[in-house]
Amino acid sequence: MTNKLTMRKKIVAGNWKMNNDYFEGLKLASEVIGMISDEVNSDVICIMAPPFIHLNSIAQLIKGKKGISLAAQNCSDQDSGAYTGEVSAKMISSTGATYVIIGHSERRNYFAEDAVLLQKKVNIALQNKLIPIFCIGETLSQRESGKHFELVKQQLVESLFSLSTDEFNKVIIAYEPVWAIGTGLTASPAQAQEMHAFIRETIAGKYGQAIANDKSILYGGSCNPTNAKELFAQSDIDGGLIGGASLKSRDFVNIVKSF
Ligand code: PGA
Repeated sequence: MTNKLTMRKKIVAGNWKMNNDYFEGLKLASEVIGMISDEVNSDVICIMAPPFIHLNSIAQLIKGKKGISLAAQNCSDQDSGAYTGEVSAKMISSTGATYVIIGHSERRNYFAEDAVLLQKKVNIALQNKLIPIFCIGETLSQRESGKHFELVKQQLVESLFSLSTDEFNKVIIAYEPVWAIGTGLTASPAQAQEMHAFIRETIAGKYGQAIANDKSILYGGSCNPTNAKELFAQSDIDGGLIGGASLKSRDFVNIVKSF
């Protein structure tokens, strides 16, 4: 366990997933931006991760607004070329987005994204000045068979631990137990803290304690305005990656205010 007297940033990121058409998305983003501007005067970084089609317009809306940033939910592992349907890190970067979610369990499960592909995505994101929000986490059966620590360590090692120290410093980690995503089953604050401390310890083993202490590690999985405060109060939890609750502006902003 580490104390929170570090350089690490407090972050709440809203992953909209495949929700909201163009106009609904602009409405939600405008509401969030308004509430954040009126109500949040802290050092929390609030990130919205809408579908690709919203990035450019929302980037215009957040221009000049303190504490609000934009993320894509995915990027291609390729630079450019004949990859129909793909969106490159360079394209994302050119909209004004500054973060990209990589390795979300839905991408791993439904789109068969493996550790090697995810490593390529992390590299290409960093080359294009995007900050990866890299997701890791175990399934219920992995936890029940006592393999959750081993699995999470493997996900870190396979996709991130070949990064240089400078590159690794830029990455944000999101621990999202798969059994808690969209299920209403949140990890208890103690369960989440235990894994976050393990992740930090694993990072310390590879990159050193100072870098581990400064690494922002977010919790994701049925985080909501009711449970966020207790989760964020844990010594190794630096914020959240929010799915369902990020689709309601009031709920999302209340989570941003939960530190
Ligand atoms: P949830 O999703 O908050 O709806 O559980 C979290 C996520 O998938 O990032």
